[in-house]
Amino acid sequence: MQNSKKFFKYFREYEWSNIFAMVRNNLKDPKICTENFNNKLVVITGATSGIGYHTARKFAASGANLLCINRSIQKSEALCKEIMHEFGVQCNYKISDLSSLTDIKRVAEELAAMDTPIDVLIHNAGIYLTKKELTADGLEKLLVVHYLSTFLINYSLVEKLKSQQKARIIMVGSEGHRFAAWGLRLDDLNWEKRRYSGLKSYGSAKTAQLLSMLIFEKHFENTGVTINTMHPGAVKTETGQENGPLYRWFKRNVFDKTLKSPQMSAEALYYHGVSHEMENISGKFFNLTTMEVPAPPALDIEVAYELWDKSLELTGIRV
Ligand SMILES: NC(=O)c1ccc[n+]([C@@H]2O[C@H](COP(=O)([O-])OP(=O)(O)OC[C@H]3O[C@@H](n4cnc5c(N)ncnc54)[C@H](OP(=O)(O)O)[C@@H]3O)[C@@H](O)[C@H]2O)c1
Repeated sequence: MQNSKKFFKYFREYEWSNIFAMVRNNLKDPKICTENFNNKLVVITGATSGIGYHTARKFAASGANLLCINRSIQKSEALCKEIMHEFGVQCNYKISDLSSLTDIKRVAEELAAMDTPIDVLIHNAGIYLTKKELTADGLEKLLVVHYLSTFLINYSLVEKLKSQQKARIIMVGSEGHRFAAWGLRLDDLNWEKRRYSGLKSYGSAKTAQLLSMLIFEKHFENTGVTINTMHPGAVKTETGQENGPLYRWFKRNVFDKTLKSPQMSAEALYYHGVSHEMENISGKFFNLTTMEVPAPPALDIEVAYELWDKSLELTGIRV
């Protein structure tokens, strides 16, 4: 369908009640899970800072072993030392720059080859850029870190997770997917035909993540494996540090003052990973722990299938 037709299709599908629900949900606290997670394995990306760091600590405090996928050796060493010392669980890491297709593929293959079951897989790593950046593969960076990395890792793990007959995938998404109000431009994923905007690009990447969830959910139907996406709240983290001094000044002196603690996000992610209430719930979007209807472009199954094909090409799975 042409972009202009999509525009009108989505416009008709927008419902004020869903927007009001989001505003209400933004004020809610997450549900708390008090069950433990002893000796289970949690794989988490971007555990060296912000939401990922607090989530890693939360799972470890509840008895889970961790396998962190990070880009920094020094930070990973420090994290695992801290976690093993404080909580007495296993904490290992793999180094992967999730903006590099080669690195993503390697780590995805390593995870797929593991004998140990992965009980929970959390895709958390992310960045926010105000200016467009291309990766070494010539792809727009936000698209790769937020979306293609999750796609490639999930795709590589389908058979392993199915064979386990039980696993939960949680993608840290964002209410920011709503910034892609008129949908994903599959003809311009690299932002060559449009003026780049950090918010729109972020919204597009998070929309792509939600669209892929629709297809993965079908792959995992009746297998015991679930996949959901959650918005972790508006919380104070290190996000946006790659941007210029003006952005960083505003973040530190204005935005950060309105934001909550990332420990709230960690509680919500723990609930998603462990709570028996989440058993068999799959293919859904949550604002923290409250189920919510995402924006119409993130529910467009026709675009989801087109994106799936495009992602297989972009990642080199299908040449
Ligand atoms: N903060 C919020 O209010 C908010 C709201 C909605 C959604 N989110 C989402 O929450 C997730 C976590 O963000 P955050 O706010 O916690 O930000 P953060 O403090 O900047 O943490 C981001 C994590 O991702 C890692 N990372 C970034 N680029 C990477 C790459 N190329 N390869 C591997 N790891 C990489 C970072 O590693 P380093 O430590 O090496 O930098 C860090 O561990 C993101 O997906 C974000 O979009 C956040």
